[in-house]
Amino acid sequence: MDILVVGGGGREHAIIWSLSQSPNAGKIYCAPGNAGIAQLAECVPIGVFEFDKLTAFAKEREVGLVVIGPDDPLAAGIVDAFEAQGIKVFGPRRNAAEIEGSKTFMKDLLHKYGIPTAAYEKFGDYEAALAYLRAQDVPIVIKADGLAAGKGVTVAYTREEAEEALRHIMVDKVFGEAGAQVVIEEFLAGQEMSILAFVDGETVRPMAAAQDHKPVFDGDKGPNTGGMGTYSPLPHIPASIIEEAVKTIIEPTAKAMVAEGRSFSGVLFAGLMISPDGRPKTIEFNARFGDPETQVVLPRLKSDLLEIFLAVTEGRLKDTDIEWSDEAAVCVVLASEGYPGTYPKGVPITGLDDQEAGLVFHAGTARSADGGWVTNGGRVLGVVGRGATIAEAREAAYKKAEGISFAGKQCRSDIAMKALV
Ligand code: AMP
Ligand code: GLY
Repeated sequence: MDILVVGGGGREHAIIWSLSQSPNAGKIYCAPGNAGIAQLAECVPIGVFEFDKLTAFAKEREVGLVVIGPDDPLAAGIVDAFEAQGIKVFGPRRNAAEIEGSKTFMKDLLHKYGIPTAAYEKFGDYEAALAYLRAQDVPIVIKADGLAAGKGVTVAYTREEAEEALRHIMVDKVFGEAGAQVVIEEFLAGQEMSILAFVDGETVRPMAAAQDHKPVFDGDKGPNTGGMGTYSPLPHIPASIIEEAVKTIIEPTAKAMVAEGRSFSGVLFAGLMISPDGRPKTIEFNARFGDPETQVVLPRLKSDLLEIFLAVTEGRLKDTDIEWSDEAAVCVVLASEGYPGTYPKGVPITGLDDQEAGLVFHAGTARSADGGWVTNGGRVLGVVGRGATIAEAREAAYKKAEGISFAGKQCRSDIAMKALV
């Protein structure tokens, strides 16, 4: 079966790497893809919002399955567009993707169904929001309602920071319409974890749990990024907490979506905080695979990813067994100088062709005129190491990362350390 994957980052590279191992996978296309993905798939120069061109391409090439990677086309209804043309597509419809696309929708849903999350208030009016904020203690969390490329959330430790964040969103309108409403939320202390799950209606099959590192610098310092590294499994988090999160958060949310007439199909990704008393609470829901969570989760999948995608899209996930390996995986992101702010592109990369095939996932690379590799994004590469333990996988990842060079290369040196203390 021929497949079209929509997107062009490290997450899509990992999805394609996993799909390409399926005996039933035929030709794989990726729109728009990137230079690393081009080693495994035929990249087609169509943007993720060009729904007419994407559906026409899928029809013309008779692809049997389309897989959507990123959040914004999901929120814009890309799944509905493919379905309207009778094309099989893995991902949630627009009304289900709203669980990520609107934080007010997500918070109201969890509140209505009694699913654990931080206490919150939502506002469409700046003065009302400011008055409420002034009556709260710090730390406190300010969130733009809509998608803001991972930048819409401020954890404010002082009143000044909190008021500035609110002003940014509601007065300066730096996120445009995504900031028409804000959520002001209770600060949750504790340890974060990500649980991604395949979901088809009320059926939930959790994937191996992972932990991301969002701030750009060691020790969780500096501004938040899309993610600087991940690891899986989480040996320091008891299995009972992971099970509790699935039972009290992900499964009830999938049920609630069905009850609301917004049945979810695809990957539901819960960002969770484990409070000091060991109780998991929801920070956010995403309607897609995480980036770079996918880069450590899929290498641990023993089952056939294509079969799982087909089972979800055909509504038969409950009859599908999914197996995970006990092996550990660690992903270290190599980023451009200046990321998550402005950064240069076109910087030559060396050492890339010597890497073990498949486990260096490209996020932002391009080919230079002479056939070499150059940087082409903020996050450039996700280097994955595997091993019997997190310590071994971590060592393998950093060894590989050291072998790759480009001017201004930055990476955190403490990925997965939380699992080792
Ligand atoms: P989000 O984009 O919603 O994942 O938020 C980005 C980051 O902000 C999360 O990964 C957390 O580290 C932090 N965060 C969000 N909400 C809260 C909260 N209620 N309490 C503490 N930290 C939070
Ligand atoms: N790594 C976090 C995300 O994909 O949203």
